[in-house]
Amino acid sequence: MKQINITGFADAPVNEPERQLYFIAECKKIVSQMKVDKGRELYADIKTFGCQMNARDSEKITGILEEIGYTVVEDDEENADFVIYNTCTVRENANLKVYGRLGHLKKSKKNNPDKIIALCGCMMQETHVVEKIRTSYRFVDIIFGTHNIFKLAELIYLRLHSKSMIVDIWKDTNLIVEDLPSERKFKFKAGVNIMFGCNNFCSYCIVPYVRGRERSRKAEDIINEIKALAADGVVEIMLLGQNVNSYGKNLDEPISFAKLLTMVEEVEGIERIRFMTSHPKDLSDELIETMKNSKKICPHLHLPVQSGSSRLLADMNRKYTKEHYLGLVDKIKEAIPGISLTTDIIVGYPGETKEDFEETLDVVRKVEYSSAYTFIYSKRTGTVAASREDQIPEDVVKTRFDKLLEVVGEVSKAQAEKYTGQTVDVLVEDLDSQDETLVTGRMANNMLVHFPGCKDLIGTIVDVKLNECKGFYFLGEMV
Ligand code: 5AD
Ligand code: SF4
Repeated sequence: MKQINITGFADAPVNEPERQLYFIAECKKIVSQMKVDKGRELYADIKTFGCQMNARDSEKITGILEEIGYTVVEDDEENADFVIYNTCTVRENANLKVYGRLGHLKKSKKNNPDKIIALCGCMMQETHVVEKIRTSYRFVDIIFGTHNIFKLAELIYLRLHSKSMIVDIWKDTNLIVEDLPSERKFKFKAGVNIMFGCNNFCSYCIVPYVRGRERSRKAEDIINEIKALAADGVVEIMLLGQNVNSYGKNLDEPISFAKLLTMVEEVEGIERIRFMTSHPKDLSDELIETMKNSKKICPHLHLPVQSGSSRLLADMNRKYTKEHYLGLVDKIKEAIPGISLTTDIIVGYPGETKEDFEETLDVVRKVEYSSAYTFIYSKRTGTVAASREDQIPEDVVKTRFDKLLEVVGEVSKAQAEKYTGQTVDVLVEDLDSQDETLVTGRMANNMLVHFPGCKDLIGTIVDVKLNECKGFYFLGEMV
């Protein structure tokens, strides 16, 4: 890579966000010169793996790269001048995908020696991953983790200065840097982080190790961000956290998640409020009451159960039983009739017996989920469950997984069919990808509906009659 002679560290402010704004401005000068030298734009491709948290982080990465002067493109890793993978490590196959793609990237760097390749996200918080990249993927330029995304401009500046790979991984942090650039993927809806990290240490899960301890943003910062989004045309907000129900507990002036929701409700212009993820052990009566009384909180709750077996739930360190979970569901359904419930389920957790699995199917049938994310247990190095010797054979897991999919399919289809004939409000999200005379929108319960319409409807909320249920989506018409 070409070395650029710049000396700017001595002048950099110490405090954030001023320091990063300084590096953004410095990088901008360099990128602008590179564009002149090359006689063209510089392109950046951001590839996001994993969950909503990563999607939100990628918006922050996009914001910084655009501010520096890159033009962000989609799916052009081959030709882009800057490629970044925002990785996920919650299951092993996500890791394998990254290694596979990196192999291809190496070749494209030969044609463009100035190309910068960066890796960030959860996978980079694992020591063995970083070691592997240092030794076997030496063409990678920058590696950082989940705690210092805000430093991207500084790391790019550093890389342009240095001959070697820049690795900056923080083990944990209390720092939450506000007020840096961020670019939204959608004009009309936005995800807003309310907290970072997780303290729960479910026995199978790597998230607490790679995302650190729970830290909540100040309510005031969250509300200010939402007000700015509303002023910019956003009508739907998704509040994001690994465990939103414990929001605010570690703030200097503690406040509850339910209280935060009532504050968000008051923001003019916001018409729909969603949130994820809720941990059943922390879901309060106050939250149920707030949802019941709200005009804006969508009647949808994502409540991961993971397993229906109380024995396995104890082993997983989930801190609730099957009975407690079902009791909670009854209470929620009674308070908010017609609420749509979705969940996460793991199949093949170590020691899972046929009876344990039957308990999971029983919960699916009793709760009547609208949909469920189903996962095959993946052994994650460093977690408590990974050291267990009673891992379940692959063929047994596969049979159970198929059975679970079948039962979830039956249950969710029956749930969806109940809506046929109803007229509901729909936020129009996009043109239908298959048929441009149709648009696609989301009902308040999070289900999709396709109906005749044009692109001018995107971002508006309209009344749609649900004519035909197609399983997990509807065909309808505006009324
Ligand atoms: N294996 C399979 N699924 C997992 N999840 C978390 N860790 C694992 C793992 N090791 C699932 C849980 C969680 C969702 C985000 O991912 O169901 O709720
Ligand atoms: Fe992982 Fe459990 Fe935390 Fe969710 S609550 S992120 S499953 S440790």
